[in-house]
Amino acid sequence: MGIGIESSCDETSIALVEAGKKLLSLKIYSQIENHAPYRGVVPELASRSHLEKINLLLEECLIEADVDWKDIAYIAVTTHPGLMGSLMIGAQLARCISLVHSIPIVPVNHLEAHLAVVSLEEEIPSFPWLGVLLSGGNSSIYRYSDWGNLQLIGDTMDDALGEAFDKVSALLDLPYPGGPVVEKEARKFFDRTDKPKGSLFPRLLKESTYDKIEFSFSGLKTAVLYHVRGKPKEDLDIPRICHDFQKTAFELVTRNISKAVKNTGIGTVVCAGGVLANSILREELEMVAKRQDWTLLYPSKKILCTDNGAMIANLGFYLWQKGFTAPLNFKVSPKRSFSQTI
Ligand code: KG4
Repeated sequence: MGIGIESSCDETSIALVEAGKKLLSLKIYSQIENHAPYRGVVPELASRSHLEKINLLLEECLIEADVDWKDIAYIAVTTHPGLMGSLMIGAQLARCISLVHSIPIVPVNHLEAHLAVVSLEEEIPSFPWLGVLLSGGNSSIYRYSDWGNLQLIGDTMDDALGEAFDKVSALLDLPYPGGPVVEKEARKFFDRTDKPKGSLFPRLLKESTYDKIEFSFSGLKTAVLYHVRGKPKEDLDIPRICHDFQKTAFELVTRNISKAVKNTGIGTVVCAGGVLANSILREELEMVAKRQDWTLLYPSKKILCTDNGAMIANLGFYLWQKGFTAPLNFKVSPKRSFSQTI
């Protein structure tokens, strides 16, 4: 079994996983309340909070799983990308455990771990996959050829999708983080009998007829800004704005996935990241996958969509099997680079 340590951003999390398959224990401390007044993650607050919580979570995890150090074969730890100060807290814990108990360290790419976590829940089709990552910091599509082997084939030109949710929520004077609350408002629109026709916002990248896969959400965010600017809050149809914003954004997501399937001939699509907690997006993806006959996988448990140690321990298992271990003086990095020797 192995330990997973995650501290790249605003969740401190430790998990114990058995052979990459069985989740024995998962502890997560979310710092959302610390950062909510600032409507975004404050790096200094994040690293201080990781430092306060990480040892407690490790202890709770070990007690819950009732395991002995001698049963632990590897320590998987997020090494990149993330906030430097936050990554360093997790890295230091990994070094301490490794030094005291002589357990090898497996460096893990946070983004790959998001995509690989589906393998913790079900039997997975063989590689290659298309990995679609939709989170607070990323909107990207990868060709995922093997554990530790990804290639970026599509990216955002500006905002990430989760970031756009957070910004639109701020424009509508709704709380942070924006995703869950924008989804809740959009749901209200479905229940209405007097639904207005048409969308408030134009189709994204509608002139894009070429094969290149690109996301862009800042124009949509600006369209929401122009729509709400100068209007009193009581004149705004918040459920409709949230619904039309989501629908417009998700249309670009499904269009880009279809394009990637067509361009690469890969029929297994793994979607992950915080935005996958959105059940309207899940329904939309299911529909398109069925219509276009590709295999869709995503974490069924929403807790596995947002940052967590289980995904680190899980990917750590496959990397450890392939011999990807790091010396005690391994480095952490804010970069998205997929090289294991950073
Ligand atoms: O993967 P994640 O936990 O970590 C970071 O990228 O930091 O993603 C967080 C993002 C936030 O922007 C949040 O607003 C978004 O995921 N999110 C959602 C939902 N739940 C979280 N977006 C849309 N719908 C949701 N239900």
